[in-house]
Amino acid sequence: MCRVIAVANQKGGVGKTTTCINLGVALARLGKKVLLVDADPQGQVALGLGFPKKVRVTLKNMLENIIMGLEFDPKEAILKHKEGVEVIPANKLLAGLDVALINVEDREKVLKEYLELLEDDYDYILIDCMPSLGMMVINALYAADSVLIPVQPQYYATDGLTELLKAVKGIKQRYNPKLEIEGILFTMDSRRFNNSKRQKKAVQEAYGTAVRIFERSIPRTEALSETTPEGVSIFAYDICSIGAKSYAELAQEVLHHA
Ligand SMILES: Nc1ncnc2c1ncn2[C@@H]1O[C@H](COP(=O)(O)OP(=O)(O)O)[C@@H](O)[C@H]1O
Ligand SMILES: [Mg+2]
Repeated sequence: MCRVIAVANQKGGVGKTTTCINLGVALARLGKKVLLVDADPQGQVALGLGFPKKVRVTLKNMLENIIMGLEFDPKEAILKHKEGVEVIPANKLLAGLDVALINVEDREKVLKEYLELLEDDYDYILIDCMPSLGMMVINALYAADSVLIPVQPQYYATDGLTELLKAVKGIKQRYNPKLEIEGILFTMDSRRFNNSKRQKKAVQEAYGTAVRIFERSIPRTEALSETTPEGVSIFAYDICSIGAKSYAELAQEVLHHA
């Protein structure tokens, strides 16, 4: 069965896209069929994996087909990456859809309807969300089985985590009862390797033990920021790096959570 995970945080620069790419490749390396869906007009998923900036068909085209009720090939937008993941790219035109959706009936369901056409072919679909709580993010949370929330440990209190968890709860109650919190992932952790128990405890005290926190945190490491210009994951960039090890371990946690 396919598990759809939305990678979300309305704050930018917390490691959503980096996590999408590297967790995706880590899962593919474990033999899983993985689709990365770029739901951010910045289009960094395909760019970060080295695809050219100009792509012919994007998520926006696919969603427009759904909105208009057209017959179409749902796989037309899919790009295949040499590291084993497949990608549905986005570009800045997706921003227009966020606004256009306001006038669409069942506007929060469009992405779910689209992904349902694809999910038989995948074990995991990871949705890279844009930094907002707008209509595309609501669509992602509606379509998802769970939400993975990257957070920088030192800033979690100001990261709008309360607001995000409230939005998740609202969507769970209103639209998508099966929506779970996959976990809070500490990214760009400046402590060596493992996140401090203290940070974890503070989050747990603030939000309750029901909010899961991944054991593995992702350290701040230059290699992870150097992969983007190379157009590869951390695994192709430097398999022995601490970043590769961390994302491989995160993939194990995600795998065993399902
Ligand atoms: N663990 C990390 N260590 C160092 N740099 C990182 C790490 N994770 C992400 N980055 C870098 O930080 C920036 C923001 O990360 P990104 O994944 O694009 O965040 P978001 O998608 O939430 O905006 C990027 O330049 C990325 O390369
Ligand atoms: Mg991003």
